[in-house]
Amino acid sequence: MSNRVLVTYATFTGSTAGVAEAIGQTLSEHGLDAEVHPMHEVTDLTPYDAVVAGSAIQAKAWLPEAMQFIEKNRAALAAKPFAAFLVCSTLALRRALCGALSQSGRSAPLCLRPRDADAPME
Ligand SMILES: Cc1cc2nc3c(=O)[nH]c(=O)nc-3n(C[C@H](O)[C@H](O)[C@H](O)COP(=O)(O)O)c2cc1C
Repeated sequence: MSNRVLVTYATFTGSTAGVAEAIGQTLSEHGLDAEVHPMHEVTDLTPYDAVVAGSAIQAKAWLPEAMQFIEKNRAALAAKPFAAFLVCSTLALRRALCGALSQSGRSAPLCLRPRDADAPME
C-alpha cells in the first residue's frame, strides 16, 4: 500500500482550496503521500488509496460540481477510504460567537452551539 491520498475540492472564491491545502499538508506531515487537486482536474481515482473531498457551501448545499464529482465517482469512492468536508460561513460564525461568549464568561445558547461545543475553543 503506497498510502497515496487525493485531497480534492470545489471552490467558488478560494477558501476551500486553502482548507484542502491545509488538509494535504497535515496528511503529508503524518507520512502519507498526499496530493491536492481541484475536482475539475481529477479524471481518475484509480491511482489513489484514499480520497478526501470537500466543497464550499452555497444555498445550504455542496457546489453542483462537487455533487457531480460524487455521483460520477460513486463506485470508486465506495471501494476505498473516503472522507468529506465542507467550508461555509455558518459554522465559522457559530464557532466564533460561541468562543467570544465563552471568553467573556457566558455560555452560548444551545441553538448556536456547534456539535463539538464541549471541545476547547481555539
Ligand atoms: C452565493 C453564496 C451562497 C452561500 N450560501 C451559504 C449557505 O447556505 N450557508 C453557509 O453557511 N454559507 C454560505 N455561503 C458562504 C460560503 O460557504 C463561504 O463563504 C465559503 O467559505 C466559500 O468557500 P469558497 O471560498 O471556497 O467558495 C454562501 C456564499 C455565497 C457566495
